[in-house]
This record gives sequence, structure tokens and C-alpha cells, in this order.
Amino acid sequence: MLTVSEAIRQRRSIRSFRSDPIPDEIVLEILEAARLAPSGSNRQPWRFIVVTDGEERAKLRQLCWDQAFIEEAPVVIICCADLTAYTQASRKKRTQEFLEYGVIKTLSGRFADPAVRAALAAAPDPDLQTFTTPAVANAYIAIEHMVLTATALGLGTCWVGALGNPEEIKALFDIPETTLVVAVLPVGYPAVIPPPRPRISIEEILLRPLAVPSK
Ligand SMILES: Cc1cc2nc3c(=O)[nH]c(=O)nc-3n(C[C@H](O)[C@H](O)[C@H](O)COP(=O)(O)O)c2cc1C
Repeated sequence: MLTVSEAIRQRRSIRSFRSDPIPDEIVLEILEAARLAPSGSNRQPWRFIVVTDGEERAKLRQLCWDQAFIEEAPVVIICCADLTAYTQASRKKRTQEFLEYGVIKTLSGRFADPAVRAALAAAPDPDLQTFTTPAVANAYIAIEHMVLTATALGLGTCWVGALGNPEEIKALFDIPETTLVVAVLPVGYPAVIPPPRPRISIEEILLRPLAVPSK
């Protein structure tokens, strides 16, 4: 198994897969990597459907801009974000765990202020759509955990954000109304491993130069 750093450096978007099946325990290990991801207030909004059936993969391909590699991969993970992770009932559960696990004692600033916490707890249930951004952002963290774990295990993946019609995907896979489809992740043994794709430089990603210039 590769180290995290090796997986980060060796990962590519793989768009050509061998048909070899992926053992169940490997699929579980990839899902476990998602399960362990961090999320704001530990809301864990990520939800998944593991698709192996050929007809279902063909339908997913159609619904995702006819990208052929989606059907080719032996496993396709539909990655979702559950907005009900942001209800007040869910907040209560997570807060209770924060208490039980001693997390509250480690918080600081406004989060540690009992008055602020009480006000947050007493607020009415929000319009769940207002949580779309954190739900998607947090689900994306879990997806990248899966991507890197798959790479470390010798598998290839390719993020698919081009969901032609997420509502149709929801209908086809019985995904609840309050759950967003955020990406589709084909997983399989790579048929072709391409060279690394270009990246902008460290200087370009820094909005302020480092005190010590980069090499
Ligand atoms: C959120 C997201 C959505 C993406 N959607 C697609 C997609 O629909 N189809 C595709 O072929 N690649 C997709 N990609 C892959 C990117 O094109 C790829 O990551 C980028 O070109 C850099 O190449 P690399 O991943 O090989 O380093 C997506 C990547 C991300 C992170």
C-alpha cells in the first residue's frame, strides 16, 4: 500500500479500466476511508450507493454526459450529501457526542461560549437548502479520501462532476428528496496510467509570497 504522499503524487484521473472485479473487502476499505473523513461539527453528510450491475452502470454513463469509462469501471460509487445531517435533531445528537467524547472542552472562541451554544441549540429547524454548500464541501472531502485510498491500493478512479441530470439519477436509484447527488466515482484497475497533468506553480497558488522563497 502506498503512503499518503505517494498516493497524492501517483494519483491520476483514470479514464480507461480493466474489467477485473474489485474484491468486496477492498470496496469496504475504500468506503471506510470516506467514513473516517472530517466534517464541520462532525455532521458526516456523505452517503453512497455502490453500483456494480452492468445495466445500472450503463444508465449512469448515459446520465453523466455519456462518459464511456463510467460503464467500463467494475464499481461506480454514487456520492451524495444528505441535507438532513443539518437538522436540529442531528445537531443535538452530534453535540451530545461532543460532550461524551470531551470535544466540547477542546473548543475555543465562540464555539466554547455556552450562551452561543444554547442559542444555536434553540434555533428553529433551518431551511435545509441553505446547507447545500457545507453538505457538498464535506461530502467532497470524503470522496477525496476514497480517491486516495483507491490509489494507495493500486486502483484508479476519476471524479465525475458532469452529472447531466442529477434528478434522474436520484429517481433511478431511489435517492431521497433531501439528498443531493454530488459526484459519481468510477473505480477499477487502470488499463492505462497517463502521465501527470500540468499544475500551476506554488507561486501562483500563494496569494502572498512566502517569507522564504520556494525552491
Ligand atoms: C469535482 C470534479 C469533477 C470532475 N468531473 C469530471 C468529469 O465529469 N469527467 C472527467 O473526465 N473528469 C472529471 N474530473 C477530473 C479532472 O478533469 C481532473 O482531475 C483534472 O483534469 C486534473 O487531472 P488529474 O486528476 O489526472 O490530475 C473532475 C474532477 C473534479 C475534482
